[in-house]
Amino acid sequence: MKTLIAPSMLSADFLHLEKDVEMVNQYADLFHLDIMDGSFVPNISFGFPVVEAIAAKARKPLDVHLMIVHPERYVERFAKAGAALISFHYEAALEQSGAVIDQIHSFGVKAGIVINPDCPVQKIFPYLDQVDFVLIMSVFAGFGGQKFIPESLERIRTVRQELDQRGRRDVPIEVDGGIGPDTAAEVKQAGASMLVAGSAVFKAADPKEIIAALRK
Ligand code: DX5
Ligand code: ZN
Repeated sequence: MKTLIAPSMLSADFLHLEKDVEMVNQYADLFHLDIMDGSFVPNISFGFPVVEAIAAKARKPLDVHLMIVHPERYVERFAKAGAALISFHYEAALEQSGAVIDQIHSFGVKAGIVINPDCPVQKIFPYLDQVDFVLIMSVFAGFGGQKFIPESLERIRTVRQELDQRGRRDVPIEVDGGIGPDTAAEVKQAGASMLVAGSAVFKAADPKEIIAALRK
């Protein structure tokens, strides 16, 4: 599967957002947009005005990662704001997860289910036939710049194996948190093919070099 690089705009320069949007347009594959509500996670990030501003200049798909309670309340607005992919946390939707996936699909948007590092991966197995991608957190959702949790590799392998067994080899696993040139090779080897990277990309002197390193 082709590796896709999704820079997390949480680490972008918000005073010069257009410059960073252009960099992603040129060198990366997706815009990863972290939506935090101060309730599902202790942090608050940004909302519709920022997403819409990015959407207006983006030539790559918007990958919206919802870290919010009641994701079903906001799916429609993010779809209309231009999301091509929307993921929500299993821990925020629980047994409503199937309904949220259907709702995302009803807007013609790709649906992903996300799990935090402390949630057994088996919890999302019931939804693996329904989703377009799976997002495995390799840090606890809420903040950029955290350290990669090595146990995530085993979790990626387990989900990859389960997807493959179900004949869903084409469903990509996205990994998010602490990804940089030092961790990219092992997450890819474990079975992830969509790599989110925030601080590694935007704190780098040359983001395009880091993106190239993540890709290869
Ligand atoms: C964390 C977010 C991540 C974050 C990644 O809750 O979901 O997307 O921005 O940042 P880094 O790559 O710095 O760990
Ligand atoms: Zn994210």
